[in-house]
Amino acid sequence: VENLVVDKEFWLGKRVLVTGHTGFKGGWLVLLLHELGAEVHGLALEDAPPFGIYAQGRISNLLISEHFVDICDLKTTQKIFKEVQPEIVFHLAAESLVGRSYGDPYQTFLTNVMGTLNVIKSCQELRFKVALVVVTSDKCYENQELGRPFAETDSMGGFDPYSASKGCAEIVSRSMAHALSEKEELRIVTARSGNVFGGGDWNEGRLIPDLFRALRAENSLLLRHPDSIRPWQFVLDPLKGYLMLAKYAFEVKGHKFGAFNFGPRITDQINVLELATLFKLRIPSLNFRVDVDAAGTFHEQGILRLNSEKAFNYLGWRPKLTMEQSVNLTCEWYIALMHEQSLLGGIISKQVSEYLDMKYDAT
Ligand SMILES: NC(=O)c1ccc[n+]([C@@H]2O[C@H](COP(=O)([O-])OP(=O)(O)OC[C@H]3O[C@@H](n4cnc5c(N)ncnc54)[C@H](O)[C@@H]3O)[C@@H](O)[C@H]2O)c1
Repeated sequence: VENLVVDKEFWLGKRVLVTGHTGFKGGWLVLLLHELGAEVHGLALEDAPPFGIYAQGRISNLLISEHFVDICDLKTTQKIFKEVQPEIVFHLAAESLVGRSYGDPYQTFLTNVMGTLNVIKSCQELRFKVALVVVTSDKCYENQELGRPFAETDSMGGFDPYSASKGCAEIVSRSMAHALSEKEELRIVTARSGNVFGGGDWNEGRLIPDLFRALRAENSLLLRHPDSIRPWQFVLDPLKGYLMLAKYAFEVKGHKFGAFNFGPRITDQINVLELATLFKLRIPSLNFRVDVDAAGTFHEQGILRLNSEKAFNYLGWRPKLTMEQSVNLTCEWYIALMHEQSLLGGIISKQVSEYLDMKYDAT
């Protein structure tokens, strides 16, 4: 049965820690949690871009406490967890870019694997019931490009360092959950979602931020992999899934571990050129050109699709927005940033509250 709304009663007053709150998805997650009445704390690096969601959404003001800590530093991470005493932890802090993972594979594995292990250990030592949502990626799967959507039972893998580190984070999470004693009340779930877009992302090497960066520089973006299919989705859709997953892990008796995909409808799993074209239809001054011969800076997967039936069957989750609605909401954000920045705060609040009220129900 589909849950049409996020359970506001559950979240009211819950002590929640978000790692990676200065990032794109972390910022939006804090906005959702704050709107739901949770007591939200943040832990991340102090690396937010000036025009991103953290700065423009004034995320800092929404937090009960904020900690600029490297998750590779176990002692300090443990100290913060003991201070905050979270009941729910969303672990999003990561090296999140394939391109940067080639530049520094060692640091990528340190942050994404050892950092995840440190977060799990910090939760474990709290010795009360904690639900931990470890956010990995659709790229955690061994991808043989068969074209079939991945299910949670498929093998972990990853060729580039980012994908491999996310596959490792999955294996570490499952094994740590398996090694918990009967008395330990930590519940670990992993969330694998696809390529997410929405307002306030400026990460390099991602299609939508790159398109808007090119627009600001009055350039045309070079599309090297126009045929690559990705499970694109609006940022609030998978985040809603993470909220439902955390509640599920917290409430289901004896739960130790589970992995869940959160992807768009199969019909919305489109290629790079199709998505860029949808944005250009909305904002004609966005420019791009295709040059497949320029490809080959580093290996990228061609086809990546997700099967999200498990999230629907267990949680009642499915994406709410059509691709057109997702593109419109994203464009609304960037247009305001470029032309009428004073409206941005209102647009962010409206997008969050209307999303939670299901004003955009595509089903
Ligand atoms: N955006 C996407 O399309 C997408 C898709 C699949 C999975 N993911 C995953 O979702 C999560 C969030 O992604 P995002 O797009 O918001 O990434 P982002 O790069 O915008 O944010 C990353 C966050 O992690 C923090 N961080 C990085 N290294 C850290 C460290 N050593 N110690 C503490 N904090 C650290 C940063 O400060 C930032 O807050 C990541 O785990 C990413 O791998 C993202």
